Amino acid sequence: MDFDFEGMSPTARFAFLTGTVVPRPIALITTVSPSGALNAAPYTFFSIAGIDPPIVTVAVLPTADGRMKDTGENILSTGEFVVNLVSEDLAAAMNTTCIDAPPGVNELALANLETAPSATVRPPRIAASPVALECRLHSTVPLSANQVLVVGRIIQAHVADKFVINPNEPIFDTPAFRLIGGMHGAKWYTRTADLFEMERPTWANRDV
Ligand SMILES: Cc1cc2nc3c(=O)[nH]c(=O)nc-3n(C[C@H](O)[C@H](O)[C@H](O)COP(=O)(O)O)c2cc1C
Repeated sequence: MDFDFEGMSPTARFAFLTGTVVPRPIALITTVSPSGALNAAPYTFFSIAGIDPPIVTVAVLPTADGRMKDTGENILSTGEFVVNLVSEDLAAAMNTTCIDAPPGVNELALANLETAPSATVRPPRIAASPVALECRLHSTVPLSANQVLVVGRIIQAHVADKFVINPNEPIFDTPAFRLIGGMHGAKWYTRTADLFEMERPTWANRDV
């Protein structure tokens, strides 16, 4: 079956994209408003997008009533955010933070999530997150009114000590992070426990 994206409603496009492009990593993003209010919310329209410079992208869609989400407002006005990756242990708390709270509500407090100071940016990291990426705004791609693709540059990162196997290369015990991913619809998630391995082919050693 073919799908004409130009003729589809935004709701149907959302259902299509979240129902096909899976799994999606979850960025639990912490920001601080210009007046100092802490904010946290999950984003799966999120990706790494470069290493030199080191880049992440996050798509902040408008709220149901067409406003810019607090995460977007805060990033645009302060230029700083932290991407906290989400383990199975943090799943329920992450889900709590997506509540449609009014601006100024600290979702971290609602979810009983403790923070720790970041090294280079004002927003704190989530203490229980295995990996936190401290980012400064690199650039933005305005997509429509109150909707923006945030391009962030990773300035500093924190990984919980127990996952670091070799800090020099670096090598991590990645499966032990037990990260979760977003799946279809608004409610489904996946674990990252079912792994398999493949060597990358080279033309010199091809067997095809
Ligand atoms: C797993 C998950 C992923 C989400 N991904 C996105 C996303 O990529 N972009 C977006 O605009 N909203 C996304 N949302 C919805 C926001 O988290 C939600 O609108 C939240 O209230 C925004 O909070 P804020 O206004 O504090 O930024 C997601 C929600 C969940 C639970």
